[in-house]
Amino acid sequence: MSNINIVIILGSVRVGRETHKVTTELKKRFHAAGFGNTQVLDLAKYNLPIAEERFGKTPTAINGIDDAQAILAKADAFVFVSPEYHGSYSGVLKNFLDYFSDEFKRKPIGVVSVSTGRFGGINASTEMQLLVLALGAFPMPLKLLVPTVHFTISEEGEVKEDFLNTNFNKFVQEFSWFATAIVSHKK
Ligand SMILES: Cc1cc2nc3c(=O)[nH]c(=O)nc-3n(C[C@H](O)[C@H](O)[C@H](O)COP(=O)(O)O)c2cc1C
Repeated sequence: MSNINIVIILGSVRVGRETHKVTTELKKRFHAAGFGNTQVLDLAKYNLPIAEERFGKTPTAINGIDDAQAILAKADAFVFVSPEYHGSYSGVLKNFLDYFSDEFKRKPIGVVSVSTGRFGGINASTEMQLLVLALGAFPMPLKLLVPTVHFTISEEGEVKEDFLNTNFNKFVQEFSWFATAIVSHKK
């Protein structure tokens, strides 16, 4: 059992979204792999306005942002899960992250992209890795791409294709190694 505190950020708030199925399943698999302190941070819960300033410098109080900041600051490692919109990650993910900065520094971050297309949001995944670098964090080289999400994963998170099941397992295994290596070095 690991004490590492993993926060999976769900970067889709679309009505009728599909990406939540991926975060549900990832959380289950991290728990099964011994990472019992894994939680999903659902950006739909926050409904943050367009960022005008960073956390702590915002002139007006924003509902829920203190809670989000506390969760981020406590986290040891993150997984960013985003749909691909127009060849990139979601605007809601970027807007959320722009409120923060230090909360991510020197932390391991894995990226997961989701799409109804056959390429699994590969452009979004690559751009998320660049985003992770810009946050001063460490992007895990191996990423998880989830193609044709509307067919390949059920509402409960059941993965219906063998190749995708294998890729979920590889991602969780690699992230377990990557996060443990960085977090234990820092301590
Ligand atoms: C504004 C918008 C842009 C999209 N752009 C892309 C795209 O560039 N590539 C792609 O594969 N799918 C694209 N899609 C389809 C998404 O992959 C699909 O909506 C998927 O379900 C996204 O996850 P979500 O349901 O959580 O929003 C787009 C969808 C929306 C709403």
